[in-house]
Amino acid sequence: MKKIFLSTISILAALSLFAQRSEQSLEKGWKFTKGEVSGAEQADFNDSGWESVTVPHDWAIYGPFDVNNDLQNVAVKQNFETQASLKTGRTGGLPYVGIGWYRTTFESEPNKNTTLVFDGAMSEARVYVNGKEACFWPCGYNSFHCDVTDLVNADGKDNVLAVRLENRPQSSRWYPGAGIYRHVRVVSTEKIHIPVWGTQITTPHVKDDYASVCLRTTILNSDKTLLTVTTDIIDSEGNVVASKTNKGIINHGQPFTQNFTVNSPKLWSPESPVLYNAVTKIYSSDTLLDTYTTRFGIRTIEYVADKGFYLNGKHRKFQGVCNHHDLGPLGAAINVSSLRHQLKLLKDMGCDAIRTAHNMPAPELVSLCDEMGFMMMLEPFDEWDIAKCDNGYHRFFNEWAEKDMINMLHQYRNNPSVVMWSIGNEVPTQWSADGYKVAKFLQDICHREDPTRPVTCGMDQVQSVLGNGFAAMLDIPGFNYRAHMYDEAYERLPQNIILGSETSSTVSSRGVYKLPAERKAGAMYEDHQSSSYDLEYCTWSNIPDIDFARADDHEWTIGQFVWTGFDYLGEPSPYDTNAWPNHSSMFGIIDLASIPKDRYYLYRSVWNKDAETLHILPHWNWEGHEGQKVPVFVYTNYPSAELFINGKSYGRQTKHKDGTVENRYRLMWYNTVYEPGEVKVVAYDKNNKAVAEKTVRTAGKPHHIELSTDYPLLKADGKDLAYVTLKIVDKDGNLCPTDGRLVNFKVKGAGKYRASANGDPTCLDLFHLPRMHAFSGMLTVIVQSGEKSGEIELQASAKGVKTGKITIKVK
Ligand code: GAL
Repeated sequence: MKKIFLSTISILAALSLFAQRSEQSLEKGWKFTKGEVSGAEQADFNDSGWESVTVPHDWAIYGPFDVNNDLQNVAVKQNFETQASLKTGRTGGLPYVGIGWYRTTFESEPNKNTTLVFDGAMSEARVYVNGKEACFWPCGYNSFHCDVTDLVNADGKDNVLAVRLENRPQSSRWYPGAGIYRHVRVVSTEKIHIPVWGTQITTPHVKDDYASVCLRTTILNSDKTLLTVTTDIIDSEGNVVASKTNKGIINHGQPFTQNFTVNSPKLWSPESPVLYNAVTKIYSSDTLLDTYTTRFGIRTIEYVADKGFYLNGKHRKFQGVCNHHDLGPLGAAINVSSLRHQLKLLKDMGCDAIRTAHNMPAPELVSLCDEMGFMMMLEPFDEWDIAKCDNGYHRFFNEWAEKDMINMLHQYRNNPSVVMWSIGNEVPTQWSADGYKVAKFLQDICHREDPTRPVTCGMDQVQSVLGNGFAAMLDIPGFNYRAHMYDEAYERLPQNIILGSETSSTVSSRGVYKLPAERKAGAMYEDHQSSSYDLEYCTWSNIPDIDFARADDHEWTIGQFVWTGFDYLGEPSPYDTNAWPNHSSMFGIIDLASIPKDRYYLYRSVWNKDAETLHILPHWNWEGHEGQKVPVFVYTNYPSAELFINGKSYGRQTKHKDGTVENRYRLMWYNTVYEPGEVKVVAYDKNNKAVAEKTVRTAGKPHHIELSTDYPLLKADGKDLAYVTLKIVDKDGNLCPTDGRLVNFKVKGAGKYRASANGDPTCLDLFHLPRMHAFSGMLTVIVQSGEKSGEIELQASAKGVKTGKITIKVK
């Protein structure tokens, strides 16, 4: 092995006088206005009165919440509704509907090719450069690019970029966000260059001793030029582990193919997410024309009938979650530290897979999943040719579906985290006799563009798709809910494996407990909350335990993607019908403020095999319930535990297979009587040894504010975020679990207040204002670094309790 500085690439590169490729991200200095503006695409338009913003930007997250925003009178057919009713808060009660204009300027390089890349713009983007339309892309989630070489100024200076976006009412079933909410980049290249997403890497042979790597590089505008293509494969420590230099002329527009052997490859997996880079240089004579890096991983995936899923030859089941794309209080505006924060929480829970429901993800999410070790199911659509929403994607499907698929597939087919494609979610097309033709059309596109990954589709109409051939033609049948129908599907379908493409949809509000604690579908309460005993779900869904059992009991189930990892804005079931205020989902295992709900520990106790989980619920502040029964549940990876209240034993519970399925996964004491004091649990391992204990105490009077963070040091890049957890506690530090007082924030020094959230779906406090009510005694404050080193001081104060302070370094 040789280090990169010895490679042939660098020697040739040294001969080259020009930087061949450059990339700039357009973040600062944008102007924005809402509403239609005539002539706003013109280069000389005066936008000085518009708001100054940075991109990524979500114009709707600043609210205000209003019941009248995007009121939808619909019958949600997937939820078995037959008559239309007034849906409130379906898209978050936030003002995402309307037209928005953005303008900025950029420099291009004279005599070069110039391409604009949009990671996503919501939605129906019309892009203008120097007054001329450059491209249109309707799907708000997809990445797209346009070659603007012919539109930029000859001297490269002061190019005016204008973007018009339009979100129609009734165009979404959840909060889609609004605006240029992902990154925009200008890419300059030589005329002969590798286009955006222009390489495809596969690993046709992977064994312990060696892996073969095949790289296909598309090269544009090379005509009959003889090219030299040099590629180094570089491991995660910077060693060049394989290298090739080939000469050739591009034939009939075919990609330039190179094959490599990597000895003793380090395989990518969630537990060991090892990455390689292929660095490709293109020369004509001795002139370097382009350098392009393709990051990839070496791993195998197999889906075996009756046996399940294998990664690198090892059997495993997906322990996955579905997530929508919004980042709670940040809205849809993408932020890498926020995504990383979410993934850290999921990792600790033992989650190993993400389904991007129901749309193309931000590229930053896929990169992070490569780096942090999550398998991914990428899914482009919630609608095909038949509408779910009056103004949904069906308007564009026939003309745009293939283009949208190709962009997604080309963008992400080199990412090792991606282990399967989904072609859609609960599309009404699944009902129709001819629906399989549309599914086949989409599946064939996947196979053509990426022969290495199988295709699934989230299906909810199980009887229909078993009968009409829709499910039988997919590589992997994926079912949404209906776990009780898996056996029938397994028997009737030729694939002989079943994926829980979407499961559970249990609903809960963090820290809110309803009595009696019993299983209930569609339970509603006056406070518009759901119980955190984790026994409430929607009429079409179920409690988590049922899905655990399906995975544990059958080899042919390949795992699940829980709806959802995080609460998201919009779709506030069961409070979606004339039930304002409620603006966000209650399905999350983790709430909108990124604070784990009790359910987090239930999943952790089953999924995280390496860590101890011992979690008690509910809280123990039941003033007014003295002498009454208040059930206590314990979520633990240990098989059994004994419970004590103020020293009195309520006996030992052991997980078992008799009775209800909850008994397999939870320890439950239904006869516990409330008296203020202390609930203690002592856990026993399988050898009957007492191994761990945990205590929850009745909190006294609220006394002070406690602030804590896992992010004591931020990067001075003006973007890094610290998630700070705020608790209202008594004098001994016990959480006051029912406190809901208003807290005010002050941020001084080397950063700024960014947003806060409390996870209460009924709370109309605005995220971007420096005040927020606590919910169940807690909330999250998000602080953002500036661009200079120093210290940020966050101060949180509220009536009746001592102020809290925390300092965060910025470097
Ligand atoms: C599913 C659907 C999701 C979400 C979920 C709520 O049917 O695929 O998008 O609506 O229900 O339970």
